[in-house]
Amino acid sequence: MSEFVKIAKTSDLPDPGKGTYEIEDSVVVLVHVGGRFYCLNDVCTHDGGPLGEGHLCGHAIACPRHGAQFDVRTGAALTMPATEGTVIHEVKIEGDDIYVRLNED
Ligand code: FES
Repeated sequence: MSEFVKIAKTSDLPDPGKGTYEIEDSVVVLVHVGGRFYCLNDVCTHDGGPLGEGHLCGHAIACPRHGAQFDVRTGAALTMPATEGTVIHEVKIEGDDIYVRLNED
């Protein structure tokens, strides 16, 4: 199992807001919404679109390529053309620091 890695400070992202970060060989999207932080793969399960460049609306992030939406809390695919959820990662806050542990599923 991978370790928690510090990737940002809580003040780095407005609420709502998002950013992309590299952990090891993976690119992830960190989302701040409703006072909480969530982390998911940057890769859309439809055709590999960069979710971090998508529009955030509430707890849904829309892929910029064909518009599939994913729930940032669960990774679930909410709309077509995606039919498969994306992977979410564990987030831990310590003080002002945000740590993420990659889910290797
Ligand atoms: S690549 Fe994301 S909706 Fe098509």
